[in-house]
Amino acid sequence: MLHSRPDKDQLDSVYKIPVFNNDPLDSTLPKFRLCNNSIDPELAYRLIKDDLLDEGSARLNLATFCQTYMEPAGLRIMSETLEKNAIDKSEYPQTTDLENRCVNIIANLWNAPENMEFMGTSTVGSSEACMLGGLAMKFTWREKAKKLGIDILSRKPNLVISSGYQVCWEKFCVYWDIEMRCVPLDKDHMSLNMDTVMNYVDEDTIGIIAIMGITYTGKYDDVKKLDELVEQYNQTAAISVPIHVDAASGGMFAPFILPALEWDFRLKNVISINTSGHKYGLVYPGVGWVIWKDKRFLPSELIFSVSYLGGDLPTMAINFSRSSSQIIGQYFNFLSYGYRGYREIHERTRSVAKYIATELEQTDLFEILNDGDNIPIVCWKMKTTIDKPWSLYDLADRLRTNGWQVPAYPLPDNLSDVVIQRVVVRQDLSMQLATLFIKDISESIHALNHAHIIIYGHSDENKGALGFTH
Ligand SMILES: Cc1ncc(COP(=O)(O)O)c(C=O)c1O
Repeated sequence: MLHSRPDKDQLDSVYKIPVFNNDPLDSTLPKFRLCNNSIDPELAYRLIKDDLLDEGSARLNLATFCQTYMEPAGLRIMSETLEKNAIDKSEYPQTTDLENRCVNIIANLWNAPENMEFMGTSTVGSSEACMLGGLAMKFTWREKAKKLGIDILSRKPNLVISSGYQVCWEKFCVYWDIEMRCVPLDKDHMSLNMDTVMNYVDEDTIGIIAIMGITYTGKYDDVKKLDELVEQYNQTAAISVPIHVDAASGGMFAPFILPALEWDFRLKNVISINTSGHKYGLVYPGVGWVIWKDKRFLPSELIFSVSYLGGDLPTMAINFSRSSSQIIGQYFNFLSYGYRGYREIHERTRSVAKYIATELEQTDLFEILNDGDNIPIVCWKMKTTIDKPWSLYDLADRLRTNGWQVPAYPLPDNLSDVVIQRVVVRQDLSMQLATLFIKDISESIHALNHAHIIIYGHSDENKGALGFTH
């Protein structure tokens, strides 16, 4: 990822001496070239630990949806299985079985119909899972178009999604040459606009993406309403349009907290769903899942086979080798928490989000855009009636002094004049810690109110510098 070749005289291109205490390092070590000799592994450990020391505590990083805590026993089983390659199905048949159990558990959570044959796989995260869901829709569209005699080479397929999409969908469209048709969010529609979405659909639409937990605000798209609209459209359409649900965060939350909410395979036109096991599936990064409601929605071109116990096992993931430990961590959580455990953790997490939202509202400074009701994230903006010499960017900066990372960023196109701040509540943000956060935010507000503010950094080009992508 990184580019520059540092100047060899540049001061920080080597480890300095002394290292720490009486560590025996008697010459500098290069950082950007391999050193000639070996060093003691413990010393290497210490050097790297120090390298990482000032980048903050992951638990105070309220920007990320990704898990920053797992039970010690979960961590143990994961670290004891790091060496197993998830693709070696034949060599590790039991590990393969655990993955299969996870796919079954998730399909069941998403109400896969009894009379269909679901298929699914683990992935590195939702990005890979979305890529697969999108590809399946593209291939299916191509087949349907060919059958109708459409010259597919003269057409550019499109994908319909709200402008609150996560960047993986933009990547999907760029990588696979698809036009991304964005339905803008606006002040009255902070999730997919049901009044206009079908205007974006035509013969070249490979599918519509519904998002269960918009990354910006945490809102759920109204998938049930979308299904009704799509059903109506499909009655007369030459090429029917499917729905893929990007449930990166909601997919492991809604089934426990809002089991009656219909957003999943209960809906006729929802053909595939992805989620991130490392978000509300409560596993350390990176594991994701994608499931197709029935094998007919997964075109055979996307299925490859690997050898498994002398036979063949279908695989459809994009990645090949990776450790099995995240998959095993997912199974560990399913086994140890069970349905009730997940529900209780998520309920507690949600009550922390509600507490934070209530406290912020009471400052009278902020309008709460999401109070933890959908997924447990709290999202707010400055009230338009409030005139302060400081902004949410300044508040984010000030909170950093206590170690909290709470991004402020503009909403997407059409609403980009609205700057919001967001806290993602995870299971390890206890009520105790949340109380401390509220104390720190109150003190930060007090300090900003009484500070001589010199406008120094939060010009347009810096906006969103402390942003988020996940
Ligand atoms: C709605 C949505 N989709 C996809 C992703 C990508 O997920 P991952 O980080 O698991 O690849 C995210 C990440 O935040 C997301 O919020």
